[in-house]
Amino acid sequence: MNAVVWAGGTLRDPGEPVIVATDHGFTVGDGVFETLGIDGGVPFALSRHLARLAYSASRMGIAVPDRTTIEGAIREVLDAGQGRLTRMRITVTSGDGPMGSARGDGPPTLVVTALTARRPRVCHAVRAPWSRNERGALTGIKSTSYAENAVMVEYARSKGADEALVANTHGNLCEGTATNVFIERGGELLTPPLASGCLAGITRGLALEWGAQAGLPVRVTAAGELPMSVLDEVIAGRAHLAVTSSLRGVQHVSSLDGHELTPGPLLRRLSATYELRAERDRDPVVPSRR
Ligand SMILES: Cc1ncc(COP(=O)(O)O)c(C=O)c1O
Repeated sequence: MNAVVWAGGTLRDPGEPVIVATDHGFTVGDGVFETLGIDGGVPFALSRHLARLAYSASRMGIAVPDRTTIEGAIREVLDAGQGRLTRMRITVTSGDGPMGSARGDGPPTLVVTALTARRPRVCHAVRAPWSRNERGALTGIKSTSYAENAVMVEYARSKGADEALVANTHGNLCEGTATNVFIERGGELLTPPLASGCLAGITRGLALEWGAQAGLPVRVTAAGELPMSVLDEVIAGRAHLAVTSSLRGVQHVSSLDGHELTPGPLLRRLSATYELRAERDRDPVVPSRR
């Protein structure tokens, strides 16, 4: 089915222009967004996504439309999708502005889009030759300034893969372009800390919570505990790798830099636990950040 688009207070034809040419989100990427999975007409973890949208916007100093407006837009999009949508994106920009980096006076632009698309069923990853700046102004924010990620995904695709994993400026494992990472090593399930520069992924957070509740040895590492060289251990089969995201869940990485990888037994359990809990709890309560 075609995309469903909500903008400017109403549903729009998917081919219709919906923002002005001087929208600051368009001219300089001055905006925030969320990507959600939808199953049977129900978005997953909507409260957590709206909380992160508000967090990202407040970090950037962008006003967000009120919750009733956002929820109303989401409802209209879901209704129009008649249970067939699988993926939704909520975008908020700082609105109309001058052509330079300084902002205008808004009001913010809100666009909600959704479509039916197959989720990525496998992950083939490569190591990206660039780094994430863990001290950048946009670190930890899901901003629309994602061209770095677009470049890295194109790099991955040029190598026959679909995801690129990146180190931070200290050479520590950070995240993928649209995923967080989990390593199984020495009987533990490890994920880099937010201080590594990674996004506070909603799937990462739930995998940590639900994994711990299921008695799995899952934890956030200390800074520097997972240097990028841990990926050599993964290739050598001494450690295992999974990525997490709203569209992938907890997903085994099938190959890294062209080397086939074997699934980790604990990561398999984490993935199964996640699937089970996500089916039962479609809108988990919002936690404090960690
Ligand atoms: C840079 C980055 N890291 C991690 C993730 C995973 O986050 P979530 O689990 O909330 O989808 C995303 C999601 O797109 C992302 O863009």
